[in-house]
Amino acid sequence: MKRKYLIGNMKMNMSYEQLVPYFKGLKVAAEETDNIVGICVPSCYLDLAKQILDDSKVLYGAENMYYKDAGAYTGEISAKMINDFNAEYVIIGHSERRQYFHETNEDVNLKIKKALEFGLKPIVCFGESEQERENNQQLKVVKDQIESALSGIEKSQIENIIFAYEPIWAIGTGKTATSDQAEEIAEYSKSIIVDLLNVTKQDIVLLYGGSMKPANAFELLSKPDIDGGLIGGACLKVEDFKGIFDIIVK
Ligand code: PGA
Repeated sequence: MKRKYLIGNMKMNMSYEQLVPYFKGLKVAAEETDNIVGICVPSCYLDLAKQILDDSKVLYGAENMYYKDAGAYTGEISAKMINDFNAEYVIIGHSERRQYFHETNEDVNLKIKKALEFGLKPIVCFGESEQERENNQQLKVVKDQIESALSGIEKSQIENIIFAYEPIWAIGTGKTATSDQAEEIAEYSKSIIVDLLNVTKQDIVLLYGGSMKPANAFELLSKPDIDGGLIGGACLKVEDFKGIFDIIVK
């Protein structure tokens, strides 16, 4: 069986009261799958994640960080702070960060480097908007995003990076990319990464994100270049999330 990476992106959802049973439920559910299960949480809940999940199969992480080590950056958190909670992951360059908080490709690159320096695995998000797809620019957009994200990154660092193709038009909209659309970009993205870093396709972990749910996960996860999912809405209830990570792709 091919193990898939199934990583939740909680976004700005859930409360402390909800999270205690949620984490406990996730911990139990993850025991029953061979897939790799992760959850990225608002940074104020990293301590709770550590308390409940540290000795479990569920890997956890943050949803964002700043690329400076320390200083007068009110409201920001550093890679070191995330690392203090034994976190595995940090999501970098999510389209919601790019859109609402004006993160640039350059910011994304600096954050990836800083995350790696502090032993975190960046989950590097990229993907085109609806307009860009309508104009048939998706390949160019994805290429530009990947090239700038990986500027100055070395071949040996590939094992600590996870990529996530997330077409913006499919995020939180219920409009999933078809598995063929997702596979086309996944395959293309891997070919760019292979050329840039001089690695092989097998070295790359690439997730699909955008309205993945139990009903469509099998088809998406069966595609050869989709190594897992970055799951927003459907990670918020343990039973929905479990419905995805129970999927076995042979
Ligand atoms: P969604 O979010 O599954 O709710 O579409 C995915 C994401 O934004 O990472």
